[in-house]
Amino acid sequence: MDLGIEGKKAIVSAASKGLGKGCATALAQEGVDLVICARTKETLIATAEEIASATGVSVTPIACDITSEEGRRAVLAACPNPDVLVNNAGGPPPGDFKDFTLDDWRKAVEGNMLTPIALIHATVYGMVERGFGRIVNITSASVKAPIPILELSNGARCGLTGGVAALARKVAKNNVTINALLPGLHDTDRIRQTLTGRAEADGISIDQAAEQLGASIPAGRMGTAEDFGVACAFLCSAHAGFITGQNLLIDGGSFPGTM
Ligand SMILES: NC(=O)c1ccc[n+]([C@@H]2O[C@H](COP(=O)([O-])OP(=O)(O)OC[C@H]3O[C@@H](n4cnc5c(N)ncnc54)[C@H](OP(=O)(O)O)[C@@H]3O)[C@@H](O)[C@H]2O)c1
Repeated sequence: MDLGIEGKKAIVSAASKGLGKGCATALAQEGVDLVICARTKETLIATAEEIASATGVSVTPIACDITSEEGRRAVLAACPNPDVLVNNAGGPPPGDFKDFTLDDWRKAVEGNMLTPIALIHATVYGMVERGFGRIVNITSASVKAPIPILELSNGARCGLTGGVAALARKVAKNNVTINALLPGLHDTDRIRQTLTGRAEADGISIDQAAEQLGASIPAGRMGTAEDFGVACAFLCSAHAGFITGQNLLIDGGSFPGTM
């Protein structure tokens, strides 16, 4: 299927690895030129070169922290009028409610709610004027079902979800959509880091721990960055103009509800 977005321009934040890279790669495979960012310059440049040489699109790497105003300014300067915006950043740390300070909450809200809102605010009205725009927020399955050790994430991501729900309806008539993808367990560096403790405790390798975790998912495996990226590319496609304000779980069937 031709997604009908060849030649469009996209910002994909936090995209040197994992889910962000999966989204950037899938968009590039559809002929979308990219501005991608991440904090670690070397990994970011390597990813930009890898995607550009595999697909032939233009990939501009901006090394920055997207949760800072300076970082957002740099990304927007490189791509002031994107047709596609994929919002992503690292998630807040795990812990327990009793230990979180107000500063912890402020950081979580800044990174996972206010950062995407600032980028949406800076780009959505240009999309409206041009009559095309696709915004995808990478949030988490925790928006549908809270994860006990990720209370900062549960809160900040639900804040983002509610914060743009009305806007998604306001801009839909201009062929601008705003949706969220809610990842369940995907086999990325982030998940592998969290498996270190489990692997050590059980005396098994990280690969074995990852396989065991995957076996607990109805699909029988964890998701991949590619699984995630193609879903993102479809939501960004010319054909997805009637899908907006949705929160789509990509979780291999883990969510136990019917709807
Ligand atoms: N993987 C999962 O199963 C899963 C499930 C639910 C939710 N999520 C959420 O999905 C998001 C992506 O997860 P992932 O698994 O893809 O993580 P990952 O493999 O660790 O990749 C994270 C990417 O984001 C970049 N990044 C992180 N913080 C950034 C910042 N402040 N500014 C710019 N770039 C930043 C990283 O590069 P640098 O470190 O160099 O900046 C890297 O490129 C996270 O918010 C995570 O909590 C993931």
